[in-house]
Amino acid sequence: MLLLAVLALALAAPSLAYSPDDFIHSLGATFLGFWGATEACPVGSYARAFELKVEKQHWGVDDDTSVNAIRLYCYNAAGEPTGNVTSSTMNRGSWTGVYSCDEGDYLYGYNLKSQPDQGSLTDDTAANALRMYCRQTSDYLESPGNKWGSWLEPSFCRSGMGVCGLMTLVEEDQGTFGDDTALNDVRFLCCDLPYNQEGRTRMAQVSIPAASSEDHLQ
Ligand SMILES: *[C@@H]1O[C@H](CO)[C@@H](O)[C@H](O)[C@H]1NC(C)=O
Repeated sequence: MLLLAVLALALAAPSLAYSPDDFIHSLGATFLGFWGATEACPVGSYARAFELKVEKQHWGVDDDTSVNAIRLYCYNAAGEPTGNVTSSTMNRGSWTGVYSCDEGDYLYGYNLKSQPDQGSLTDDTAANALRMYCRQTSDYLESPGNKWGSWLEPSFCRSGMGVCGLMTLVEEDQGTFGDDTALNDVRFLCCDLPYNQEGRTRMAQVSIPAASSEDHLQ
């Protein structure tokens, strides 16, 4: 009976939990705010392109927030767009242009430019720019954002996987006198690609040992 109840519950509420192992994350970013919910591309599609929402440097008294949002553009294996995902966002600035891998290729790694904590008297901006890597090219795509901060270490999905979603750490609006930082950090979700993106077929990686009677003797 208990087993049936557990089974019924599992079927009624399809799991939205992703394995922590399937997220990539580089250490060293600032950590103000709350992690948003994971948003993933529809099943069978992956992120080919990304775009940042950036508040450009303003020279007046108002504080700078730099990156406010990251948007991933999803495509299925047939190359058709299947939507976009952002996780949490803040609303300042504007979208600054799409950076895309070639058709048929997908994103599989990232590197965040992060400004460390500036202390209580200086304007903090947290995330400032983003580089992302395509599986089939060695160079990265860079959305330049703003100048502050330095690049963290890049992180990459495992072999045969591509970026398929994200969760963002975003500081909510701090009001008139607070120091706003908006987006602080990101974790990208990796999913198994439908075919091997590194030029080998999946089957070639699996070697089936030939059965032999000697195996049983060892
Ligand atoms: C992103 O997706 C939303 C629906 O979730 C859609 O309304 C919006 O137009 C999309 N934006 C872009 C730039 O594709």
